[in-house]
Amino acid sequence: MKRNFWKEIPRPILTLAPMAGYTESPFRRLVKAIEPSVVLISELVSTEALRHRNEKTMQLVEFTPEEKDFYCVQLFGKEETSFLEAVKIVEDLGVDGIDLNLGCPSPKIVGSGHGSALLRDPDATARLIEKITCSTDLPVSVKTRLGFYDDRNLVQTAKSFESAGIASLAIHGRTTQQKFSGSAQWEKIYEVKENVSIPVLGNGDVTSVKIAVQRLKNLDGIMIGRAALRNPWIFAQCRAAFEGKTIPPKPSLEQQIDFFRRHAQLAAQMKGEKWAMIEMRKHFAHCIRGIRGAARFRDRLIRVSGLDELEEIFQEILLTEPEKTITETGDLRDRKNQK
Ligand SMILES: Cc1cc2nc3c(=O)[nH]c(=O)nc-3n(C[C@H](O)[C@H](O)[C@H](O)COP(=O)(O)O)c2cc1C
Repeated sequence: MKRNFWKEIPRPILTLAPMAGYTESPFRRLVKAIEPSVVLISELVSTEALRHRNEKTMQLVEFTPEEKDFYCVQLFGKEETSFLEAVKIVEDLGVDGIDLNLGCPSPKIVGSGHGSALLRDPDATARLIEKITCSTDLPVSVKTRLGFYDDRNLVQTAKSFESAGIASLAIHGRTTQQKFSGSAQWEKIYEVKENVSIPVLGNGDVTSVKIAVQRLKNLDGIMIGRAALRNPWIFAQCRAAFEGKTIPPKPSLEQQIDFFRRHAQLAAQMKGEKWAMIEMRKHFAHCIRGIRGAARFRDRLIRVSGLDELEEIFQEILLTEPEKTITETGDLRDRKNQK
């Protein structure tokens, strides 16, 4: 029996965008603990590496029970046989869904015919998608961009993917050529929704609850990436806003530091302390954004080698700026100015 959680989950659907090197299991778990209705997607995973059960790749798709309801693995590839084998492996792990990466613009991925390179031949890609959706009982979603060079074929492409059996479609409002330049355009995403009946999620440059509410329009949901790294509370804030409830108070610096502390601890459990600290460095930039003396702390945080040393720095940060708190957009500002 085909399962399809996309049909049943609360509207609007809130999804944490996959981000390679950032949205690993520890981060996903913490986001889910704050807002349980969030759909989680792994970072992009190679079907080729997965079918060979490459150890690092198997670690990338790992998840814990806290991530269930709903956790999808995102696959990239180009060969049908690799996709079908990878889907079987992921299915056996007990995930809730499969997401197909048809949007990655990185020259390495596109150059080898993967990611958004598949948008260059939408008909062949729709046939590939159909093979994948027919091979599994799991819902298969697609994450893509407006198009490779422009958005002319987007509506037609979306309709062909719907006919190929996808359960949901997330669209980042930029073309492949744009990579991350300019600002995300959502008009074509609304047009897609008028032409298909599957859920359509909009993605790109949602940096606050206000923007999420403005952007939703006729869509079924919103996918948020970079803003969630600065403000993992954004999904709970959005859910409250969409339900007409009071938006939860902005977290204090203490709560924010506590998030990063737990993130570092979970990463250390998963990868070992030393390696986890190296990988956490990019996240630490977010925990000191806007606080006085940030540069000094940054210098120490990018060299931190263990949890005890990290705790010392956190305690100093707390002593230095007890008056700061995170805003809706992830910036820090004085508590007294928030009234
Ligand atoms: C560091 C980084 C890594 C990303 N990795 C992936 C990925 O693995 N798969 C994917 O589909 N998109 C990936 N993306 C794109 C995001 O999912 C999202 O589409 C993009 O950041 C726009 O959304 P935002 O403005 O809310 O961040 C990545 C983006 C960033 C910044």
